[in-house]
Amino acid sequence: MIPGRENRVGINVIMLGPPGAGKGTQASRFAAARGLIHISTGDILRDGIQAQLPIAMIAKAIMDRGALVDDETIIAIVRERLMRADSHRGFVLDGFPRTVAQACALDAIMDERGYGPLIVVNLVVPEPELVRRLAGRRICSKCGTNAVQATASLACGQCGGVLVQRVDDTKAVVRDRLGVYRRSTKPLVDYYRERPTFRIVNGAQSQDRVANELEILVDDVIVSATASSLETLQY
Ligand code: AP5
Repeated sequence: MIPGRENRVGINVIMLGPPGAGKGTQASRFAAARGLIHISTGDILRDGIQAQLPIAMIAKAIMDRGALVDDETIIAIVRERLMRADSHRGFVLDGFPRTVAQACALDAIMDERGYGPLIVVNLVVPEPELVRRLAGRRICSKCGTNAVQATASLACGQCGGVLVQRVDDTKAVVRDRLGVYRRSTKPLVDYYRERPTFRIVNGAQSQDRVANELEILVDDVIVSATASSLETLQY
Protein backbone atom coordinates (compact mmCIF):
# COMPACT_ATOMS: atom_id res chain seq x y z
CA MET A 1 0.00 0.00 0.00
CA ILE A 2 1.34 3.43 -0.89
CA PRO A 3 1.57 5.55 2.31
CA GLY A 4 -1.07 8.29 2.33
CA ARG A 5 -3.13 6.59 -0.39
CA GLU A 6 -4.99 4.12 1.81
CA ASN A 7 -8.59 4.81 0.82
CA ARG A 8 -8.73 3.70 -2.79
CA VAL A 9 -11.95 1.71 -2.33
CA GLY A 10 -13.55 3.61 0.60
CA ILE A 11 -17.11 4.92 0.34
CA ASN A 12 -16.91 8.67 -0.13
CA VAL A 13 -20.24 10.39 -0.60
CA ILE A 14 -21.14 14.01 -1.22
CA MET A 15 -24.68 15.25 -0.67
CA LEU A 16 -25.85 17.98 -3.04
CA GLY A 17 -29.16 19.74 -2.68
CA PRO A 18 -30.78 23.03 -1.69
CA PRO A 19 -31.23 24.28 1.88
CA GLY A 20 -33.75 22.07 3.66
CA ALA A 21 -33.41 19.14 1.23
CA GLY A 22 -32.39 16.86 4.10
CA LYS A 23 -28.65 16.68 3.44
CA GLY A 24 -27.74 16.82 7.13
CA THR A 25 -30.47 14.39 8.17
CA GLN A 26 -29.55 11.79 5.59
CA ALA A 27 -25.77 12.30 5.75
CA SER A 28 -25.72 11.72 9.48
CA ARG A 29 -27.95 8.65 9.20
CA PHE A 30 -26.03 7.10 6.31
CA ALA A 31 -22.63 7.78 7.90
CA ALA A 32 -23.74 6.16 11.18
CA ALA A 33 -25.12 3.11 9.35
CA ARG A 34 -21.92 2.58 7.34
CA GLY A 35 -19.33 3.63 9.91
CA LEU A 36 -18.26 6.65 7.88
CA ILE A 37 -17.24 10.13 9.01
CA HIS A 38 -19.95 12.79 8.62
CA ILE A 39 -18.43 16.13 7.67
CA SER A 40 -20.86 19.06 7.63
CA THR A 41 -19.28 22.41 6.81
CA GLY A 42 -22.31 24.19 8.30
CA ASP A 43 -21.87 22.29 11.59
CA ILE A 44 -18.10 22.93 11.63
CA LEU A 45 -18.76 26.66 11.21
CA ARG A 46 -21.51 26.69 13.87
CA ASP A 47 -19.26 24.77 16.30
CA GLY A 48 -16.54 27.35 15.64
CA ILE A 49 -18.99 30.15 16.42
CA GLN A 50 -20.00 28.46 19.70
CA ALA A 51 -16.30 28.21 20.57
CA GLN A 52 -15.82 31.84 19.45
CA LEU A 53 -13.00 30.94 17.05
CA PRO A 54 -11.91 34.12 15.19
CA ILE A 55 -12.30 32.61 11.71
CA ALA A 56 -15.83 31.38 12.51
CA MET A 57 -16.84 34.71 14.03
CA ILE A 58 -15.98 36.35 10.68
CA ALA A 59 -18.11 33.69 8.95
CA LYS A 60 -21.06 34.27 11.32
CA ALA A 61 -22.20 37.54 9.75
CA ILE A 62 -22.07 35.92 6.30
CA MET A 63 -24.03 32.85 7.44
CA ASP A 64 -26.64 34.92 9.24
CA ARG A 65 -27.56 36.68 5.99
CA GLY A 66 -27.54 33.44 3.98
CA ALA A 67 -24.52 34.19 1.81
CA LEU A 68 -21.59 31.83 1.19
CA VAL A 69 -18.39 31.91 3.19
CA ASP A 70 -15.42 32.47 0.88
CA ASP A 71 -14.05 29.47 -1.00
CA GLU A 72 -10.53 29.82 0.40
CA THR A 73 -11.67 29.54 4.02
CA ILE A 74 -14.05 26.63 3.40
CA ILE A 75 -11.58 24.69 1.25
CA ALA A 76 -8.91 25.06 3.96
CA ILE A 77 -11.38 23.73 6.60
CA VAL A 78 -12.36 20.71 4.49
CA ARG A 79 -8.82 20.02 3.38
CA GLU A 80 -7.63 19.91 6.99
CA ARG A 81 -10.52 17.59 7.92
CA LEU A 82 -9.89 15.21 5.03
CA MET A 83 -6.20 14.99 5.91
CA ARG A 84 -7.02 13.47 9.31
CA ALA A 85 -6.48 9.73 9.70
CA ASP A 86 -10.15 8.88 10.32
CA SER A 87 -11.18 10.18 6.88
CA HIS A 88 -9.33 7.27 5.30
CA ARG A 89 -12.15 4.87 6.12
CA GLY A 90 -14.66 6.88 4.11
CA PHE A 91 -16.81 9.96 4.60
CA VAL A 92 -20.06 11.72 3.83
CA LEU A 93 -19.64 15.39 2.97
CA ASP A 94 -22.70 17.54 3.64
CA GLY A 95 -22.79 21.18 2.49
CA PHE A 96 -19.53 20.93 0.56
CA PRO A 97 -18.81 21.51 -2.25
CA ARG A 98 -21.11 24.46 -2.89
CA THR A 99 -19.30 26.16 -5.75
CA VAL A 100 -17.47 24.88 -8.80
CA ALA A 101 -14.21 26.19 -7.29
CA GLN A 102 -14.84 24.04 -4.18
CA ALA A 103 -15.63 21.01 -6.38
CA CYS A 104 -12.35 21.45 -8.28
CA ALA A 105 -10.46 21.73 -4.98
CA LEU A 106 -12.15 18.56 -3.71
CA ASP A 107 -11.15 16.67 -6.85
CA ALA A 108 -7.56 17.77 -6.28
CA ILE A 109 -7.65 16.60 -2.63
CA MET A 110 -9.18 13.25 -3.66
CA ASP A 111 -6.46 12.82 -6.23
CA GLU A 112 -3.68 13.85 -3.88
CA ARG A 113 -4.85 11.49 -1.12
CA GLY A 114 -5.70 8.63 -3.46
CA TYR A 115 -9.19 8.41 -2.01
CA GLY A 116 -11.73 6.26 -3.85
CA PRO A 117 -14.24 7.80 -6.25
CA LEU A 118 -16.85 10.28 -5.07
CA ILE A 119 -20.41 9.02 -5.01
CA VAL A 120 -22.44 12.13 -5.78
CA VAL A 121 -26.00 12.21 -4.45
CA ASN A 122 -28.31 15.01 -5.53
CA LEU A 123 -31.31 15.34 -3.19
CA VAL A 124 -34.23 16.85 -5.09
CA VAL A 125 -37.12 18.55 -3.24
CA PRO A 126 -39.64 21.10 -4.62
CA GLU A 127 -39.12 24.67 -3.38
CA PRO A 128 -42.44 25.10 -1.50
CA GLU A 129 -41.59 22.00 0.58
CA LEU A 130 -38.11 23.43 1.34
CA VAL A 131 -39.66 26.67 2.56
CA ARG A 132 -42.15 24.75 4.69
CA ARG A 133 -39.44 22.59 6.28
CA LEU A 134 -37.09 25.46 7.07
CA ALA A 135 -39.88 27.61 8.54
CA GLY A 136 -40.75 24.73 10.87
CA ARG A 137 -37.24 23.66 11.83
CA ARG A 138 -36.12 24.09 15.42
CA ILE A 139 -32.63 23.31 16.65
CA CYS A 140 -31.16 22.91 20.10
CA SER A 141 -29.49 26.10 21.32
CA LYS A 142 -27.01 23.93 23.25
CA CYS A 143 -26.01 20.99 21.02
CA GLY A 144 -27.33 22.17 17.63
CA THR A 145 -29.35 18.99 16.94
CA ASN A 146 -32.40 19.31 14.68
CA ALA A 147 -35.56 18.75 16.74
CA VAL A 148 -37.79 15.90 15.68
CA GLN A 149 -40.63 17.65 13.84
CA ALA A 150 -43.40 15.55 15.32
CA THR A 151 -42.66 16.63 18.89
CA ALA A 152 -44.32 19.69 20.30
CA SER A 153 -41.72 19.78 23.07
CA LEU A 154 -39.70 22.94 23.66
CA ALA A 155 -36.69 20.96 24.89
CA CYS A 156 -34.02 19.05 22.97
CA GLY A 157 -34.48 15.27 23.11
CA GLN A 158 -30.69 14.77 23.27
CA CYS A 159 -29.56 17.19 25.97
CA GLY A 160 -32.63 19.05 27.22
CA GLY A 161 -31.45 22.37 25.76
CA VAL A 162 -33.95 25.01 24.62
CA LEU A 163 -35.19 24.66 21.04
CA VAL A 164 -34.83 27.77 18.87
CA GLN A 165 -35.16 28.80 15.25
CA ARG A 166 -31.87 28.90 13.32
CA VAL A 167 -30.93 32.53 12.63
CA ASP A 168 -30.80 31.82 8.88
CA ASP A 169 -34.19 30.06 8.81
CA THR A 170 -36.25 33.26 8.87
CA LYS A 171 -38.41 33.83 5.79
CA ALA A 172 -36.26 36.57 4.22
CA VAL A 173 -32.97 34.74 4.76
CA VAL A 174 -34.39 31.46 3.40
CA ARG A 175 -35.40 33.33 0.23
CA ASP A 176 -31.82 34.61 -0.08
CA ARG A 177 -30.31 31.16 0.62
CA LEU A 178 -32.45 29.64 -2.12
CA GLY A 179 -31.25 32.38 -4.51
CA VAL A 180 -27.63 31.66 -3.59
CA TYR A 181 -28.28 27.96 -4.16
CA ARG A 182 -29.72 28.58 -7.63
CA ARG A 183 -26.82 30.84 -8.67
CA SER A 184 -23.81 29.17 -7.07
CA THR A 185 -24.57 25.60 -6.08
CA LYS A 186 -27.05 24.26 -8.65
CA PRO A 187 -24.38 24.51 -11.42
CA LEU A 188 -22.57 21.73 -9.54
CA VAL A 189 -25.19 19.30 -10.82
CA ASP A 190 -23.86 19.93 -14.34
CA TYR A 191 -20.30 19.61 -13.05
CA TYR A 192 -21.01 16.07 -11.76
CA ARG A 193 -23.88 14.86 -13.96
CA GLU A 194 -21.80 12.87 -16.46
CA ARG A 195 -19.92 10.89 -13.83
CA PRO A 196 -20.91 7.22 -13.53
CA THR A 197 -21.18 7.71 -9.76
CA PHE A 198 -23.81 10.50 -9.96
CA ARG A 199 -27.28 9.64 -8.61
CA ILE A 200 -30.52 11.58 -8.03
CA VAL A 201 -32.57 10.86 -4.90
CA ASN A 202 -36.17 11.98 -4.43
CA GLY A 203 -35.91 13.91 -1.14
CA ALA A 204 -39.64 14.69 -1.04
CA GLN A 205 -40.57 11.45 0.71
CA SER A 206 -40.56 10.41 4.35
CA GLN A 207 -37.10 10.37 5.96
CA ASP A 208 -37.18 6.55 6.07
CA ARG A 209 -38.01 6.27 2.39
CA VAL A 210 -35.27 8.73 1.43
CA ALA A 211 -32.78 6.78 3.56
CA ASN A 212 -33.84 3.54 1.92
CA GLU A 213 -33.52 4.96 -1.60
CA LEU A 214 -30.10 6.38 -0.71
CA GLU A 215 -28.89 2.99 0.57
CA ILE A 216 -30.05 1.26 -2.60
CA LEU A 217 -28.50 3.82 -4.95
CA VAL A 218 -25.15 3.87 -3.15
CA ASP A 219 -25.03 0.07 -3.15
CA ASP A 220 -25.87 0.15 -6.85
CA VAL A 221 -22.87 2.41 -7.49
CA ILE A 222 -20.63 0.11 -5.47
CA VAL A 223 -21.87 -3.04 -7.16
CA SER A 224 -21.61 -1.62 -10.65
CA ALA A 225 -18.03 -0.63 -10.03
CA THR A 226 -15.86 -3.61 -9.10
CA ALA A 227 -12.84 -3.01 -6.89
CA SER A 228 -10.62 -2.88 -9.94
CA SER A 229 -12.90 -0.67 -12.02
CA LEU A 230 -13.21 1.74 -9.07
CA GLU A 231 -9.55 2.52 -9.66
CA THR A 232 -10.27 3.77 -13.14
CA LEU A 233 -13.53 5.68 -12.57
CA GLN A 234 -13.29 9.43 -12.88
CA TYR A 235 -13.79 11.25 -9.59
P1 AP5 B 1 -25.65 24.51 6.13
O1 AP5 B 1 -25.78 24.26 7.56
O2 AP5 B 1 -24.94 23.52 5.28
O3 AP5 B 1 -27.09 24.84 5.59
P2 AP5 B 1 -27.87 24.40 4.25
O4 AP5 B 1 -27.09 23.82 3.14
O5 AP5 B 1 -28.64 25.60 3.91
O6 AP5 B 1 -28.64 23.19 4.70
P3 AP5 B 1 -29.68 23.03 5.86
O7 AP5 B 1 -28.99 22.59 7.11
O8 AP5 B 1 -30.59 24.20 5.98
O9 AP5 B 1 -30.56 21.89 5.24
P4 AP5 B 1 -30.26 20.35 4.98
O10 AP5 B 1 -30.34 20.07 3.53
O11 AP5 B 1 -29.04 19.88 5.71
O12 AP5 B 1 -31.56 19.76 5.64
P5 AP5 B 1 -31.78 19.15 7.10
O13 AP5 B 1 -31.41 17.72 7.09
O14 AP5 B 1 -31.16 20.03 8.14
O15 AP5 B 1 -24.89 25.91 5.89
C1 AP5 B 1 -25.24 27.05 6.61
C2 AP5 B 1 -24.41 28.23 6.12
O16 AP5 B 1 -23.00 27.96 6.33
C3 AP5 B 1 -24.51 28.55 4.63
O17 AP5 B 1 -25.62 29.35 4.33
C4 AP5 B 1 -23.18 29.28 4.40
O18 AP5 B 1 -23.21 30.60 4.87
C5 AP5 B 1 -22.21 28.49 5.27
N1 AP5 B 1 -21.58 27.38 4.54
C6 AP5 B 1 -21.69 26.05 4.83
N2 AP5 B 1 -21.01 25.33 3.95
C7 AP5 B 1 -20.46 26.19 3.07
C8 AP5 B 1 -19.67 26.03 1.90
N3 AP5 B 1 -19.30 24.82 1.46
N4 AP5 B 1 -19.29 27.14 1.22
C9 AP5 B 1 -19.65 28.38 1.66
N5 AP5 B 1 -20.40 28.60 2.75
C10 AP5 B 1 -20.82 27.52 3.45
O19 AP5 B 1 -33.38 19.23 7.17
C11 AP5 B 1 -34.03 20.48 7.22
C12 AP5 B 1 -35.37 20.32 8.00
O20 AP5 B 1 -36.22 19.43 7.26
C13 AP5 B 1 -35.18 19.68 9.39
O21 AP5 B 1 -36.10 20.24 10.27
C14 AP5 B 1 -35.47 18.19 9.14
O22 AP5 B 1 -35.95 17.55 10.30
C15 AP5 B 1 -36.53 18.28 8.06
N6 AP5 B 1 -36.49 17.13 7.14
C16 AP5 B 1 -35.39 16.48 6.66
N7 AP5 B 1 -35.76 15.49 5.82
C17 AP5 B 1 -37.13 15.52 5.76
C18 AP5 B 1 -38.10 14.74 5.07
N8 AP5 B 1 -37.76 13.74 4.24
N9 AP5 B 1 -39.40 15.05 5.23
C19 AP5 B 1 -39.77 16.08 6.07
N10 AP5 B 1 -38.90 16.85 6.76
C20 AP5 B 1 -37.58 16.57 6.61
